[in-house]
Amino acid sequence: MDEGSSRIRRRVSVRKRNRPSLEILLPAPTADELKPGDDEKAEEEEEEEMGAGSPRRKTVGVQPVENNESEEDMFGDYDSFAENSLIAQVDDLEQKYMQLPENKKHDTDLATEDLCSENIRHNQLSITTIGSFTELITDEHTKNQSGHEDISIEPGADLLYELPSSQVLYFENLQNSSNELGNQSTKERDWNSSSHKTVSEELPQNSIEQPQQNDEFSSKVRTSSDVNRRKSLKDHLKSAMTVNAKAQMPIFSRTKQLKETHLSEEINVAKKAIESSSDDVGPFYSLPSKVRDLYVQFKGIEKLYEWQHTCLTLTSVQERKNLIYSLPTSGGKTLVAEILMLQELLCRRKDVLMILPYVAIVQEKISGLSSFGIELGFFVEEYAGSKGKFPPIKRREKKSLYIATIEKGHGLVNSLIETGRISSLGLVVVDELHMIAEGSRGAILEMTLAKILYTSKTTQIIGMSATLNNVEDLQEFLQAEYYTSQFRPVELKEYLKINDSIYEVDSKAENGMTFSRLLNYKYSDALKKMDPDHLVALVTEVIPNNSCLVFCPTKKNCENVAEMICKFLSKDYLKHREKEKQEVIKNLKSISSGNLCPVLKRTIPLGVAYHHSGLMSDERKLLEEAYSTGVLCLLTCTSTLAAGVNLPARRVILRAPYVAKEFLKRSQYKQMIGRAGRAGIDSVGESILILQEKDKQQALELISRPLENCYSHLVQEFTKGIQTLFLSLIGLKIATHLGDIYHFMSGTLFGVQQKILLKEKSLLEITVESLRYLTEKGLLQKDTILTENVLTQKDACYKSEEWFQYSFHITKLGRASFKGTIDLAYCDILYRDLQKGLEGLVLESLLHLIYLTTPYDMASQRDPDWMIYFKQFNQLSPAEQNVVALVGVSENYIGKKASGQAIKKTVDKNIVNRLYLSFVLYALLKETSIWSVSEKFNMPRGYIQSLLTAAATFSCCVLHFCEELEEFWVYKALLVELTKKLTYCVKAELIPLMEVTGVLEGRAKQLYNAGYKSLAHLANANPEVLIKTIDHLSRRQAKQIVSSAKMLLHEKAEALQGEVEELLRLPADFPPVEKA
Ligand SMILES: Nc1ncnc2c1ncn2[C@@H]1O[C@H](COP(=O)(O)OP(=O)(O)OP(=O)(O)O)[C@@H](O)[C@H]1O
Ligand SMILES: [Mg+2]
Repeated sequence: MDEGSSRIRRRVSVRKRNRPSLEILLPAPTADELKPGDDEKAEEEEEEEMGAGSPRRKTVGVQPVENNESEEDMFGDYDSFAENSLIAQVDDLEQKYMQLPENKKHDTDLATEDLCSENIRHNQLSITTIGSFTELITDEHTKNQSGHEDISIEPGADLLYELPSSQVLYFENLQNSSNELGNQSTKERDWNSSSHKTVSEELPQNSIEQPQQNDEFSSKVRTSSDVNRRKSLKDHLKSAMTVNAKAQMPIFSRTKQLKETHLSEEINVAKKAIESSSDDVGPFYSLPSKVRDLYVQFKGIEKLYEWQHTCLTLTSVQERKNLIYSLPTSGGKTLVAEILMLQELLCRRKDVLMILPYVAIVQEKISGLSSFGIELGFFVEEYAGSKGKFPPIKRREKKSLYIATIEKGHGLVNSLIETGRISSLGLVVVDELHMIAEGSRGAILEMTLAKILYTSKTTQIIGMSATLNNVEDLQEFLQAEYYTSQFRPVELKEYLKINDSIYEVDSKAENGMTFSRLLNYKYSDALKKMDPDHLVALVTEVIPNNSCLVFCPTKKNCENVAEMICKFLSKDYLKHREKEKQEVIKNLKSISSGNLCPVLKRTIPLGVAYHHSGLMSDERKLLEEAYSTGVLCLLTCTSTLAAGVNLPARRVILRAPYVAKEFLKRSQYKQMIGRAGRAGIDSVGESILILQEKDKQQALELISRPLENCYSHLVQEFTKGIQTLFLSLIGLKIATHLGDIYHFMSGTLFGVQQKILLKEKSLLEITVESLRYLTEKGLLQKDTILTENVLTQKDACYKSEEWFQYSFHITKLGRASFKGTIDLAYCDILYRDLQKGLEGLVLESLLHLIYLTTPYDMASQRDPDWMIYFKQFNQLSPAEQNVVALVGVSENYIGKKASGQAIKKTVDKNIVNRLYLSFVLYALLKETSIWSVSEKFNMPRGYIQSLLTAAATFSCCVLHFCEELEEFWVYKALLVELTKKLTYCVKAELIPLMEVTGVLEGRAKQLYNAGYKSLAHLANANPEVLIKTIDHLSRRQAKQIVSSAKMLLHEKAEALQGEVEELLRLPADFPPVEKA
């Protein structure tokens, strides 16, 4: 696509950053630009949808009861703070705690004994190098060597890979048709042909170090008693190899091989080009031409926009300088980042971390990039929600692209620093860099980037955003260059609607707008009353043939607006893609065990749905899919959708200039209207902001003022910010004495902005204060007094400052909090609660344990429904009621609250509320149906789902906390089980399928019922067959599921192979054996 006449304004500038030296650090007063408490959550607007009629809708099946619907309607997408993936951790822990003593012995034996010897010596055991994900390249020579009975596959193993009948039929047909092409190809495509059952391949000579004095040793120690031990290794190898061998599509093709060779040649050329940093780039921005082909094939991108080309060829980019770039929404920023990531993975052979703001976006990206990984030979690893391993698995050859949420990205970086592997990270890309200014997540993002800057000089950082203002500060923090352009592929026309007039936003006009047209509509009196803002008129100008998004201030408003619009849509709308809409309804029911939200039941037939965090993630995903394919033409949504998944529309309507009760920020407004205009589909996009007279002035300012500045939240988010940072700096030994910690702080965004943010205190004072606080809290301990020669020269001038003379170490409680990633605001309460639990833990039911692992922060978010509380209390067994008393809540209190009586005694609200949430979780574990629990507790099901995820995460955090503290040993085994129960609240058989990115419970059920029961089933599935067998699955989704499954399977296989290599490697410290 050509940029045509669009004007490109570029600015490339460099800011050199100097970390302030200690000498010049004196508090210098400057203008106080920041109002503290910026991020105070707005309370929910107690709104009745004006147009939707006054009586509160009884039709909304589960009325949300939230008291503080905030601007952060986050789809539960704030990721966990737990560093390790739940699934990975549960696996690890299970192994750790459930291992039989024999197995332990076994492992040790394996590490030292002879097993490696013969196989390695003769290179009989082979580890397959995954040259291509899609084929198993079988080598005759290898086959000849594979008569190694230890690792041949028994016929029974094939059962594992039994394909669903639909797939078998498909492959039979494929085989028949290929028969016509000659026998050779038939042989090659035969899944179960015996040649493929042999998985031994020659071990590359250089992949395992040759043990030296091994011969003698092996022959000496091998006795008949070793046979049993060997057997287990044999099994281990067998299963690892089986998975690996089967995972690859055994299609052997000469053309494919040639292509592979060509690709690797091109990569080599590109590598050289990059190393020489000459201007002579490879065929496609230093990348193989295959990458260009893949962009055409997978994304329909034929040509780069001019700005993308310019940005990629900037000298500073080629010199791998850090970079921030900023373009309007839909400007195509992602492609530039992706090309730079591919260069790093393929040519520089380094791992890459991409940080994205929400779980849903991470999943979208994983699905999109897995096919690139498969074709080009790198791993795409998910770090979001319950996925991700810390530290990441060390891959043998291929490089990894970690795609992570902000929280998981932080955990990943911590684990790489802890294991001394941070320099393996060649590039870190941060999308939506402006998030650095958003509360505790912003603080975490800042910490992550600051740690990378401090610990790895070779890691490049790239940040992008559509809404940046004070770029200079960010440049200084990241030591980055800046590139910007105003390019947008689809023109965006901004309108304001006041009464029945529509005005176009026009920066040249005196008051910022010019009259455009009068709204053409014929409203009945009833409609006028119900829809005074003319939403029906505005949406019907575009739907059903074009898509429309209506942003509403609150969740409830979304539902009301959707219903109101549907009431007045003509019956003709029912006919538009009628069958497919019925399918959507059917699918919604099937993922919810027959339940269907009554609002959606009424709106979907007309092509309309609401979309907010009150829905479960499965439901949201289904609605998103239906909207992207045009089956649904209108979504009413909260502001989160703007920053969430990529769902563009022809027309975007902002129902009011508010998010909850807060007036819109410029950046929020920009993000929302930025959804208008779909590249490649629309020639123009439109946004319409509906205004009441009273808001007109403020709105005119909104459309004309600059974007908000980004300010650090590191210090403002005290316990989740600076304190957590210091604890991890000392815990990870990044910086352990004041001089270093101070030096680190001066390199943060806060360090850059300190004089604006906290002018009354110096950075040094803030640093000392936080260290003192952590020491007083028992999380840190002051250590040896540093002698002068240990103090650097820089510090020496401050040696009069007493604190400069100490180094610090982390206490047990500090380490427990750090390892468990416990918010430091709660670490001592948690310690007390667990200690109290030791005195009398009620184990008759799970209630007491659940209470201990109910997240503290969620308790403050909503008040209980006291009638329900009381009713639920009365249904508890005497032992369970005893738990209630033990945690400090009395029946009397709940009863009085339920009957509305005044209570004199003060009771800790946090405990009472937390207990109520424990009741919800307890009910969930007993009933496993979110729908029925949602009804019982009158809570939105989306909220219950988030609560469950948060509880599973927190349970895991508490487990890690306990692991570091001997006194809590007893909790360990209990919490392993509880974490598992909370994580796997869905049916156990669906878990393997749900490990695949984008497969949620509903889809997993469909797949399972159609015979796809394991990861291997999905990896081997044919997308064409899948779309015929699975209801409402698009070709794109089917392909993504298969790609993601293949990727995951290969990651697992590769990890097992790595483990095998490790097991067979002779320990480096192996005692020398004298020659006989
Ligand atoms: N050179 C190109 N040719 C055609 N389409 C492109 C090109 N580059 C990007 N696109 C497409 O444009 C759309 C928007 O791109 P992208 O998501 O990167 O925008 P963005 O700048 O990140 O916007 P936002 O700030 O909203 O996230 C995508 O569908 C992408 O595939
Ligand atoms: Mg983007």
